[in-house]
Amino acid sequence: MCGIVGYVGSQQPNGRPLEVVLGGLRRLEYRGYDSAGVALTGTGDGKLAVTKKAGKLVNLIEALDLDPLPASTAAIGHTRWATHGGPTDVNAHPHVVGKVAVIHNGIVENFVALKAELLAAGTTFTSETDTEVVAHLLARAYDVHGDLTAALTAVVQRLQGTFTLLAVHADVPDVVVGARHDSPLVVGLGDGENFLGSDVSAFIAQTKDALELDQDQVVTITPTSVVVTDFAGGPAQGRRYTVDWDAAAAEKGGFRSFMDKEIHDQPKAVADTLLGRTDLAGHLVLDDLRIDESVLRSIDKIIVIACGTAAYAGHVAKYAIEHWCRIPVEVELAHEFRYRDPVVNEKTLVVAISQSGETMDTLMAVRHAREQGAKVLAIVNTHGSTIPRESDAVLYTHAGPEIAVASTKAFLAQITAAYLLGLYLAQLRGNKFPDEISAILDELRLMPAKIQLVLDRAGRVREIARWMADTTSVLFLGRHVGFPVAMEGALKLKELAYIHAEGFAAGELKHGPIALIEPGQPVFVIVPSPRGRDSLHSKVVSNIQEIRARGARTLVIAEDGDEAVRPFADEVFYVPQSPVLLAPLLTVVPLQLFACELATARGLDVDQPRNLAKSVTVE
Ligand code: F6R
Repeated sequence: MCGIVGYVGSQQPNGRPLEVVLGGLRRLEYRGYDSAGVALTGTGDGKLAVTKKAGKLVNLIEALDLDPLPASTAAIGHTRWATHGGPTDVNAHPHVVGKVAVIHNGIVENFVALKAELLAAGTTFTSETDTEVVAHLLARAYDVHGDLTAALTAVVQRLQGTFTLLAVHADVPDVVVGARHDSPLVVGLGDGENFLGSDVSAFIAQTKDALELDQDQVVTITPTSVVVTDFAGGPAQGRRYTVDWDAAAAEKGGFRSFMDKEIHDQPKAVADTLLGRTDLAGHLVLDDLRIDESVLRSIDKIIVIACGTAAYAGHVAKYAIEHWCRIPVEVELAHEFRYRDPVVNEKTLVVAISQSGETMDTLMAVRHAREQGAKVLAIVNTHGSTIPRESDAVLYTHAGPEIAVASTKAFLAQITAAYLLGLYLAQLRGNKFPDEISAILDELRLMPAKIQLVLDRAGRVREIARWMADTTSVLFLGRHVGFPVAMEGALKLKELAYIHAEGFAAGELKHGPIALIEPGQPVFVIVPSPRGRDSLHSKVVSNIQEIRARGARTLVIAEDGDEAVRPFADEVFYVPQSPVLLAPLLTVVPLQLFACELATARGLDVDQPRNLAKSVTVE
C-alpha cells in the first residue's frame, strides 16, 4: 500500500532532503504502488517544488532534475496505490493547493460530502482523489490558523475513514506535519534532522532511533524538535525505541530478487522466531501478554483470523494446536469473519496472524472480536504496527523486513510462532507433560538446518520450473497439514507467474476436481511421512496413482527415504524427515522456489507482481 516519507533538516547539505526521501521511497517500494511523487520546501523562491509521475519510481526520477540535487530544507514523498481515481500523474500525490502539499495513505470515507461542501463554496478540483479534499481543507485551515499543526489538527477532526497524512507549507520550510488514524506512521529521530515514514524502512539508512505514535495523534517535526499532540490539540507522547533491523536487511543481499533472498532467509527467520522464548525455568513465554493466564486456561475455542498466506499459516496451526491442546480451532478469512455474526465470547481466543500488522481486513476483524468479548492474541512480524497494539497479547515473529510482495519467510515464521503458541497453551493447560513439550521444541530447533538442506537441493526444482515456463495450469494436492501447503503453493504460483493454479485436499479429488486431469496436466502432490499415520501416506500414494492413470504429470514432494512414491512420480523432490506436524516448514519451500523460478523464467518481476500490494490497508 502507499509508502510515505517525510524529512526536515535545514543545516544539512543542500540536496539531502530529496536524496533521503527518494531513498526512503525506494525502500518502501515493497509495499506495492502505481505512482510516485515528491514535494520540496525551502528551495529559495518561496514556492513548493512538486514532481509526480504515474508508474514506477524510475519515471519520477527521470522527471526530476537531479544534477545537481536541488537545494531544499524539507521534503515529503509518496508512493501511491490507487483507490480513488486511476494511477495517473494528476492523481499521484502530493496534492497541492496554494502553498500547501499533502500526501495520504488510506481512504477518506466522507470525501464525497466534504467535496460537495467545497464545490458549493466555489472550489475547483483537478484530480479524482479523496486526498485533494484534504489539501483544500488544509489550505483553508492554514489561512484561518496561520499555523500548520493547528490547521492539520482542525482538518483531521473533520475526516472519517483511515489516514496517514503528511503536509508541508511553503511559508514554513522547516516544518513537516503528520497525522495518523488507523493507518501507520513512525518518526525517525536524527541529529539536526528528523524523519517520518509509513514504517522504519523509510529512514532506516539514516537512523535507528524511532518514536512510535499512537492512533489519533498529530506530529510536528522540525530539524531540532518533534512535538506530538492528540487530535484535540492536547499534549501527547510517542514511545521511543531502537530499530533492530539494519539497512542491509532491507536490501537484496546478492540475490536476483528480494523474494529469492527471503526464501533463503527462512532458516534464520525460523531460528530467530524460536529464540529466547523460554524463561529461566525453561517455560515458554509470550512477548506481551495482557491476558490473565486463568482466562487462557478457561478458553474453549480458538478462532484464527487472517488473510491470504497468513490464513494458510493459520490452517497449519489448526492441526497442531488441536492435536497438542485438544481445543477446537476454527480458521476464518478475516473479511468473512468481520461481516457475519460469529459465535464469539469471553471464552474464545481469537488469534490474528499478520506479517504487516496493518492489514485492514484483519484489523477490523480484531476489533469486531474484541467488541464481542473475545481476547485477541496477535502473531505479527512488524513492531509498532496497529494490530498488536489493539490486541490483548502479542507473539512477534522475527522474520525481519519482508520486502517482496509475496510472503515467504513470514509464512514460515508465522507457522513457527503458531506452534509456539500451541505449545504454550498445552503447557498452561496441562495438556502435555513438560518433557513432551521439550521434545517438540527440540524437533523445532532442528528445523532451520533442515530448511537449509531443502534450499541446498533447490537446483532440480528450479530446473523443472524453467522447463515449465509455458505451462498454463498447475494443480496442487495435499492431505492433513499438506492441504494448506498445497493451497499456499497454488497461491504463490498464481500471484507470481499469473498461471491458473489450484490447491485441493487430495481426498476431495474424486468429488469433482479429478475431472480437470487430462494428459500432461502437471500436479504437485505433497506426501505425508510414511512414518506418521500409515493410512494417510498410503491414501496419498493412491491419489497419485489415480491421477497418473489419467495422464497427469506428477511432481511429488516426499520425505527422504520414501521409496513408495517413486514408481508413480515423474519427479520426486525429497525433503528431510521431520515429525508430521512440522513438515509444512519443509514441504512448502520447493513450492516457493518453483513459483519464483517459473515467474522469473517468464520474465516477470517476482518482487512486485501486478495488481498486488504488500500491505493491504483498505477493506
Ligand atoms: C501472499 C501474501 C498475502 C498476505 C495477506 C496478509 O503472498 O503476501 O496473501 O499474506 O495479504 O498480509 P499480512 O500478513 O500482512 O496481514
